Amino acid sequence: MDITLAAGPWQDVDTDWLIVGYAPADSPETFPAPLAALDEALDGTIARLISSGDITGKLAELHLLADVPGIAAGRLLLVGVGSIDRLTSAKLEKALVTATRRASKAASVRAAIALPSQEDGILDDNSAAGLAAMALQTGCVGQSLYRTEPGRHAFSEATVVSDAQQSAAVDRGSILGQAINLTREMVNRTAMEVYPETFADRAVTVANECGLECEVLDENRLRDERMGSLLAVAQGSTRPPRVVVLRHNGAGQDAPSLAIVGKGVTFDSGGLSLKSNEGMKTMKCDMAGAATMLGAMTAIARLDLPVNVIGLAGLVENMPDGNSFKLGDVLTARNGTTIEVLNTDAEGRLVLADVLAYAVDLGARRLIDLATLTGACVVALGEEVTGVFSNDDEWRDQVVEASARSGEPAWPMPMLDLFDDLIKSDVADIKNVGPRWGGAITAAKFLERFVDDTPWVHLDIAGPSFASSNKAHREGGGTGCMVRTLVAAAEAMENG
Ligand code: BES
Ligand code: MN
Ligand code: ZN
Repeated sequence: MDITLAAGPWQDVDTDWLIVGYAPADSPETFPAPLAALDEALDGTIARLISSGDITGKLAELHLLADVPGIAAGRLLLVGVGSIDRLTSAKLEKALVTATRRASKAASVRAAIALPSQEDGILDDNSAAGLAAMALQTGCVGQSLYRTEPGRHAFSEATVVSDAQQSAAVDRGSILGQAINLTREMVNRTAMEVYPETFADRAVTVANECGLECEVLDENRLRDERMGSLLAVAQGSTRPPRVVVLRHNGAGQDAPSLAIVGKGVTFDSGGLSLKSNEGMKTMKCDMAGAATMLGAMTAIARLDLPVNVIGLAGLVENMPDGNSFKLGDVLTARNGTTIEVLNTDAEGRLVLADVLAYAVDLGARRLIDLATLTGACVVALGEEVTGVFSNDDEWRDQVVEASARSGEPAWPMPMLDLFDDLIKSDVADIKNVGPRWGGAITAAKFLERFVDDTPWVHLDIAGPSFASSNKAHREGGGTGCMVRTLVAAAEAMENG
């Protein structure tokens, strides 16, 4: 879906749904100029709705005016953005996605979002226009992939209405929205459809579309590359494993590379340490890290960022079987570290171990990995906050700042030496589980053993990458969280 940029006046925008944001303090005297003109065309309807208390401007409050005479649009959808003084990009996104979700329930709808310009106070023009484009892309896509009657429909035309010159911001927002939708779609598709080979096939297709180099490592190659830890996890499945390597070469050959590594467990049954029905229900989502990497790489390529980025996905299915890896097994990872397996459900770290080591060997100078790694991280930070773990304070701060700029909550966790003792093994170098407490940190400490001295950030997205239910402001299922943060982190690399 393409997004066009159009200029006002708002009352003349020819569309089916015109979405207009307003704040609680907006009264006829303080209306931004284009809103005042719109209200005049409406004979003061908005002003009357405010004085009667029917609209308050509370964040994400919707008020629909259908069949309104006086303006070109078929419907006017007013959406509250909350207090302008306290407006953040996350809040504006929430408001705009609530509105685009509402407008996309019917098929073949033309939708437009009108935004006042900077003098009128909402964020800065570029962020607001970018968010509007993104909301048009993400709000009209749902998780009802397999319904005969889909719950949402792509807009037949999508427009951002603004007087300022913001085509670059609109393009960027649109590209980010499409990247997020790709990640969401990959997560939302069933494990029957998405397994290592089909994920890799899709990565090849997507790479060709957006100009990324793509290489797929099959089982034999993974054996040649000594990825014993990843291969052990794959052993119990009829689906052979794959590692996908994507490259965006936006800077010179000698420029340092950022590597983004994603956990791609296409289904996590727990293996012989089998999960309960309740715990297994949503485990098609366990490849969200790999899907987030893929989405972000498409955006990095399409934005043609002047940086070198390598995207890697470790793809396996974790299943119980006569061939499964077993408790007590000792694995030798690519970097020579030996690992005692004490729980086959702690498989994500075993997959990432080898792919992180491979990324280091490819010459990556900065690392970010993303993984639906631990339930413990969800216990610690809740369902909406990403856990941040690192071996390098400076790089960690850069990634956390990128997440803040992107409006995606992320929080650093302590990586104290005392946690290293908790994964020592009596029979091997390390074991793949620690004690119950501090489980998100011991998992991160395990990963740290495979990155050498490379500045590395691990993002545990077990909570925020998958939403259990639909809400007015966001669809359930895959969320596409951290796609924007990755792009923002790559952009920050440009500057050193
Ligand atoms: N994929 C799960 C983690 C997970 C849990 C993701 C909930 C999304 C939502 C991971 O492979 C896992 O099973 N982790 C175990 C680790 C334990 C065995 C040390 C967990 O969190 O229980
Ligand atoms: Mn598991
Ligand atoms: Zn898992």
